[in-house]
Amino acid sequence: MSDSNDASPPIPRHVAIVMDGNGRWAKKRFMPRFFGHKQGVDALVRTVLSCADRGIEYLTVFAFSSENWKRPTEEVSGLMGLVLVAVSKYLSKLAADGVRIRIIGDRRQVSDKLREAWLQAEESTRHNTRITLSVAFNYGGRWDILQACRQAMDDGLASDALDEAALNRYMALSYAPDPDLFIRTGGEVRISNFLLWQAAYSELYFSDCLWPEFGDAELDAALAEYARRDRRFGGVPSGAASLAGGA
Ligand code: FPP
Repeated sequence: MSDSNDASPPIPRHVAIVMDGNGRWAKKRFMPRFFGHKQGVDALVRTVLSCADRGIEYLTVFAFSSENWKRPTEEVSGLMGLVLVAVSKYLSKLAADGVRIRIIGDRRQVSDKLREAWLQAEESTRHNTRITLSVAFNYGGRWDILQACRQAMDDGLASDALDEAALNRYMALSYAPDPDLFIRTGGEVRISNFLLWQAAYSELYFSDCLWPEFGDAELDAALAEYARRDRRFGGVPSGAASLAGGA
């Protein structure tokens, strides 16, 4: 749920990113798609630290969607292996840099090895406070809403006790404010089932930059655009209090 208000600071508290374009980046270089994902991990590590440097408190990234299982087996297993390697390669650096790691998504389908690696990453960084990196893995926005409803029903929540705040307590990102800024790289202009509940009032920013090329210049361009947006949360435009309407 949002704890934002009309006086949002120019720096977003929470940024969400769909890291798209790894495959095309690799193809342009006549390399296998896996190579693009590998470079994508480096771009992610860079971006976490850049966000922390700019005072962003939460970064949530889409690493593997509920629908990504439809990709060729070779690519799926390559991605799973890459994530395992990335955790062991970068965990100590991210932990030392004050990054708290959380994983959101359905863990039941992932291997025991990966589940253990996620747990270790979460456990070893749980006291860090500089920035929270939430990695959405085997995640879908519809899955998230459904799993929250199921948990609420299992808890015996009465229908008249169910409101937005009550359901939000069961959502995967219940520990974070709603994303203020939602970035998608790679040139596609869609949300692709990411954070459907939480992004209701996020500012959307689409970039043609392919994810492995995402760096400080692209991040700062997105932040500058965000600072220019007039956030209304369903209210009226700032400076036009007498006009009705606006989303
Ligand atoms: C989309 O590009 C990217 C993905 C499906 C994977 C993103 C994953 C990472 C960057 C690695 C994350 C790693 C950790 C440790 C969390 P695409 O393959 O759809 O690219 P395309 O649109 O050019 O084909």
